[in-house]
Amino acid sequence: MVTLFRTPFVIRLFKLLLFFLCFFVIDRFCHRQTGGFALTKIHSDRPFNPEWEVAPPTPAEEAEIERALSQPYRFFSYGGQSYVFLSEDGKTVLKFFKHHHMRPIPLFREDKLPSFFTSCTLAYRYFKERTALLALHLNKTTHLNKTVTLIDKLNIAHQIDLDRVDFALQRRAELPYRRFLRLKKEKNLEAAEKSLHSLLELIALRCQKGIYDRDPNIRRNCGFLGDNAIELDLGSYTYDPLVATPAATREILVAQTRKLKHWIQKSYPELLPYFEMQLSAMLEKNTETF
Ligand SMILES: Nc1ncnc2c1ncn2[C@@H]1O[C@H](COP(=O)(O)OP(=O)(O)O)[C@@H](O)[C@H]1O
Ligand SMILES: [Mg+2]
Repeated sequence: MVTLFRTPFVIRLFKLLLFFLCFFVIDRFCHRQTGGFALTKIHSDRPFNPEWEVAPPTPAEEAEIERALSQPYRFFSYGGQSYVFLSEDGKTVLKFFKHHHMRPIPLFREDKLPSFFTSCTLAYRYFKERTALLALHLNKTTHLNKTVTLIDKLNIAHQIDLDRVDFALQRRAELPYRRFLRLKKEKNLEAAEKSLHSLLELIALRCQKGIYDRDPNIRRNCGFLGDNAIELDLGSYTYDPLVATPAATREILVAQTRKLKHWIQKSYPELLPYFEMQLSAMLEKNTETF
């Protein structure tokens, strides 16, 4: 046994494993420290695509965008597709997209970007009011003339020329479970019920517009602006008129609120009767009247 372990092959194998282990640990450590963010990951050399063009903002929106973009943004969060930065005043988030996760790899990965950008444009064109989007920029431009300071997790400031990068600007929302727990602590059941109603209405409304969400995770991908529920995640929508049929809407309402129901049962049982009543009412109505 001892001689076996001393054989050069086993030692070499052990060293190799140790090397990969060190590499893995260092990689995870760096990822933790930076959130995985790097400037190269949010830039791409994709050519102009007219499909990603969206209508310009109204003058009122333009003023809000101008205000929002006249301040630095600090690293806030990330998901599988985006890096999220929060404005200094805490009111807006600036999202940059993980191009390195979407680039095609021959034989291994298809080009994920077209479906991701189609989803973002769907959100902007047809669901802007419930995705709290202020701006969407998916083609390089020359007219923005705006440089924003991004402060990464290591406190390093980067100057980003917004003309040269894809981004979404969105109002900052309060995450659902945090909101419900806060309202529970404040013993504000009425506000919690209003929020819950808005959340169910959000799902029904989305269905009615024929938008299907492939990643309907309420905890991570929804939020609240005051009592109004919105969807934060822009990347998982497809257009499918079938989801607007009452039967499909009912099915989606039940399926996409199952985890929420379990969470309410466990963490906020006082809210359960209202959840059940509202969901039944919506199922009964076939959700046609939203
Ligand atoms: N508008 C927002 N307000 C507050 N937090 C947000 C907002 N948008 C995103 N976040 C936070 O960032 C995370 C990742 O954002 P998301 O848009 O879901 O990116 P991805 O498409 O990569 O999943 C969310 O789960 C949420 O915690
Ligand atoms: Mg997400």
